[in-house]
Amino acid sequence: MATPKSRKSTAKSTTSTPAPRGPRATALRTVTCGELTLADAGREVIMTGWVNRRRDHGQLIFIDLRDRYGVTQVVIDPERTPEGSAVLDTAAEARAEYVLQVRGTVAARLAGTENAAMATGAVEVIATGIGILNPAKTPPFPITDAITADEALRLKYRYLDIRRPAMRARLELRHQVALFMRNFLSERGFIEVETPILTKSSPEGARDYLVPSRVWPGEFYALPQAPQQFKQLLMVAGLDRYFQIARCFRDEDLRGDRQPEFTQLDLEMSFVEEADVMTVIEDLIVGLIQRFTQKKIKQLPLPHITFAEAMERYGIDRPDLRFDLPLQSLGDLALLGEFKVFQDAVKSGGVVKGLRILGRGGATRKELDELTEFARTFGAKGLLTLAINPDGSVKSPITKFMTAEDVQRIVTHMAGQPGDLIVFVADSAKVANDVLWRMRVRMGEELGLIDPNVMALCWVVGFPMFEVIEENGRERYHATHNPFSGVKPGHEALFETDPLQAEARQYDIVCNGYEIGGGSVRIHQAEVQRRVFQLLGLNDAQITEQFGHMLEAFELGAPPHGGLAVGFDRLVMLLADTDNIREVMAFPKNANAQDLLMNAPSPVETEQLDELHVAVQLPKVPEKK
Ligand code: AMO
Ligand code: AMP
Repeated sequence: MATPKSRKSTAKSTTSTPAPRGPRATALRTVTCGELTLADAGREVIMTGWVNRRRDHGQLIFIDLRDRYGVTQVVIDPERTPEGSAVLDTAAEARAEYVLQVRGTVAARLAGTENAAMATGAVEVIATGIGILNPAKTPPFPITDAITADEALRLKYRYLDIRRPAMRARLELRHQVALFMRNFLSERGFIEVETPILTKSSPEGARDYLVPSRVWPGEFYALPQAPQQFKQLLMVAGLDRYFQIARCFRDEDLRGDRQPEFTQLDLEMSFVEEADVMTVIEDLIVGLIQRFTQKKIKQLPLPHITFAEAMERYGIDRPDLRFDLPLQSLGDLALLGEFKVFQDAVKSGGVVKGLRILGRGGATRKELDELTEFARTFGAKGLLTLAINPDGSVKSPITKFMTAEDVQRIVTHMAGQPGDLIVFVADSAKVANDVLWRMRVRMGEELGLIDPNVMALCWVVGFPMFEVIEENGRERYHATHNPFSGVKPGHEALFETDPLQAEARQYDIVCNGYEIGGGSVRIHQAEVQRRVFQLLGLNDAQITEQFGHMLEAFELGAPPHGGLAVGFDRLVMLLADTDNIREVMAFPKNANAQDLLMNAPSPVETEQLDELHVAVQLPKVPEKK
């Protein structure tokens, strides 16, 4: 009978279990592929992993065995071990990505064959046994960081993609960042609370993902765009300091830094003003950058700029402050002379804004046409170019419409120097800004003004509570962020006179042109919140139906409170030095919101739809002529 005692003695009597075991040893291995050093020479080990590369010299085979922890060279050589010839056949069978178990003895590599680029490059394992745990078909792309595979293929075979060291390192970074955040916040008294995924719509400006209820025919849950209302309710509940690494869902147009399903570091605090929340976040983000990157933070403490300043100088509320290159409005100078393009824009309430592009005065006709085309792509009707020759003379279509003196006044206003190119967009402020911020970023890159080793962060403050949007041909107010942002003390009265002038207690944090987080001190009084909903166009019945629970909570002892959410994936993306959010997510959706690996979304059985009381009505496909 096999008692534990007898089993132990059996193990002892054979020498089949090499000792000692490494910290990540399992039933199938004693060490990983990333831990052996010269100090281990002579040790008997068992390793498991994937065939990274096999070099077959007939009577001598090398296998680079890979696992999460690294790569170790395995040598199959009958001259160095008596078991060698028996192992040779199995080794010859092993192809790329076969899963192997290798038994062997650690040895120092022969002088001159060490590989300094490998952590384990001073040693190799002389194989005395090899088992094939699982063969593998030829992978659709090689498992190497020097990958050129199409992204769709990488997403379809994400589990292979993640075998690549760079992908794996980014997921490890993601884990470390989450751990850092949890410790940092926990030390400061925050507690992590999970909030529901099956819940009610909470507006953050995108469409909801809906989940039909089987139990309640015709009714739906919404997946949360953010845990906004729950975290405020946790403040009413007296939890004082909450955080959550929370999954959020938004059905919106995707970009390189956006996913339909993403993660926020979400937090909320009671009895605070703006500075309390901003200090916590600033310390956290600076701490993360210092811990996980070698990059220099451009300015500390972080500068604050107002929304109005950001729009005027950079054309966008998430400016890339790694370089200067500001936009500049022409103001009244646009009315000089007889240039109708400029004059018409100003007369119809628009602006003329320009960008001075250093040293591009010698641009060719073709280059100027290309810049104009770039501007048109983003909505400009044209692009007025003004080149300053080395002798100071000006080459521009505008010279036909105003005197040389007036042209000179414009050049001076734009701080133009010989050799520069200045470009102008005349349009609504919205279009001019939208074109020129992109032009500014493009030029920052092309002119080499961006230091890749710098993180330029700032706070953007002073947002308006409301903006005007057009919906079904009618204009209405829309919350610039979400409807729960507080209003600057004293600005409540503006709700009745000039709501567009009312300022929100909102703050966004921006890094290198990305909005990495945003939050506000909230409304905590029911009557103020009700008024905001009314201004946003909700009638009393809608307010009660959608937000009655919030108003009621505010009447049951709501403390002043505020918070913020950091885009977790976006922040990790910046820490990982990539500009694609998918590179830091294990299983992201593609740009068409599809999961190519699981093949989602996909049709479901009629029975399942019936059970959910859902009828599908497909869009009409336009008939082909
Ligand atoms: P907001 O909507 O600004 O605020 O979101 C906070 C941060 O989340 C990130 N983010 C995204 N990341 C990836 N994909 C997306 N689709 C996406 N959408 C947003 C951004 C953004 O700054 N409830 C408020 C926070 C608060 O007021 O406390 C909110 O969700 O980095
Ligand atoms: P046009 O009068 O249309 O021939 O335009 C004269 C110059 O002004 C051309 O170089 C156009 O590219 C430029 N232009 C036209 N519309 C705009 C605009 N909205 N903003 C800036 N430049 C423009």
